[in-house]
Amino acid sequence: MKKYLEKIPEELQGLINKVHNTAVRKNTEAYLVGGFVRDLILGVKNLDLDIVIEGDGLKFAQDFADSLGVKVTLHRQFGTATVFARSGLKIDFSSSRREHYPSPAHLPLVEEGSLRDDLFRRDFTLNAMAIGLKDGRLVDYYGGLDDLRHKVIRVLHPLSFIDDPTRIFRAVRFEQRYDFKIEPRSLQLLKEALRLGLLERIHPHRTRTDLILILKEKDPIKEIKRIEKLAGFDFILPQLKISPKTYAFLKAIKREISYFHKNYTERRPLDTWVIYLIGLLDVLEAKKIKKICAKFGLRKGEKKRLLSYKRFQGRFIADLSRASIKPARIFGLLEPLSYETILALRAKYNNPVFKRNITDFLDIYNGMRISVSGNDLAGLGVLPGPRYRKIFTQVLKAKLNSQVRNKEEELALIKQLLRKGLPTLTARQASGRQGVD
Ligand code: CTP
Repeated sequence: MKKYLEKIPEELQGLINKVHNTAVRKNTEAYLVGGFVRDLILGVKNLDLDIVIEGDGLKFAQDFADSLGVKVTLHRQFGTATVFARSGLKIDFSSSRREHYPSPAHLPLVEEGSLRDDLFRRDFTLNAMAIGLKDGRLVDYYGGLDDLRHKVIRVLHPLSFIDDPTRIFRAVRFEQRYDFKIEPRSLQLLKEALRLGLLERIHPHRTRTDLILILKEKDPIKEIKRIEKLAGFDFILPQLKISPKTYAFLKAIKREISYFHKNYTERRPLDTWVIYLIGLLDVLEAKKIKKICAKFGLRKGEKKRLLSYKRFQGRFIADLSRASIKPARIFGLLEPLSYETILALRAKYNNPVFKRNITDFLDIYNGMRISVSGNDLAGLGVLPGPRYRKIFTQVLKAKLNSQVRNKEEELALIKQLLRKGLPTLTARQASGRQGVD
């Protein structure tokens, strides 16, 4: 009976025991459910704990959090609660419930139900199993274990995709992630839901969540191929087509992401999904990309990265493809861009000089700082004001072009600039920035 509990990762065992203790104190039983159970059986690491309580899950979460001395966040409208343990791990709690869909693609109405109801409202049999914490028994009313063994994705009832068409994305995601197959009857139901145009009926913000999850999968290209074959990408924008060129670009993106992960381990984590989205939307003009950003409610920073890729055109590409380009110009062009945009560009233009200039930027110029400070300028009698920025820009430009190498040389340059009168270039011109972002 305990064989599944024994498979639980060590870092979670203490926490799960404490959930069980709360259940004993409250004379109820807690169940592990959903993706956590699926991955436990598959032997895939998953730290996202989902617990269902037959009874008041919110009150349970509150009592559990009190026993740990931590806070609980209640999401009353969804009947769920999240507890963050001190270790940084989190547990989601909910009351077992049944769901009723008032119309296709809308959020369900929820009412109290048994554990059996709660498992029946779920997407696929492989996600509809539970493990009781009392004795570790597997609760599997719908044949999930068998389907896992046979590597099959199966809906629990014929209306599943109609109730919740986001399950179309989820079916593809699990199928490609685990190398499973959507079984024939479920595939037929999925296709019927597509024929009814239900993907377009999902609220775009829900579509966005699922699209991002797909692009965050380990191999998004596989997932994109499967979605293209089943549904196409009209749900993003009518007539959005994926050509062999797009796939070649997506593959190049994949290579650039590995290149970055291998060589720049200490840099901030990449939003790899943004780069894949740049690839997916490459054929579209900026105006259409703006429209997509608005429709799906993408965040400002996400939109900025998509558009700065689009606007980085013509002369900028030509300049970066020249071996004779000055470092200050490379810096001026690339410093305003995000890593995501830069990697998409590096994937797009298969020109060795262009690539090397970007590598130089990432290796040397990115984040380059000068040694002199405002205090140094004040020490030289320069009054604070916009001229500070102009002087710093000139010094940075000189440093990038190896005209100054240390603080002494920077100070000497500043003195020379002051003797000649203040720099006449604007800061933007001096740094080579051209407003590409
Ligand atoms: N679920 C569902 N229908 C959905 C979304 C979720 O039935 N549209 C159920 C499934 O039982 C799922 C659980 O809620 O297992 C948790 O959902 P989520 O955390 O989104 O997915 P996981 O299955 O944990 O998948 P992942 O590994 O991708 O996080």
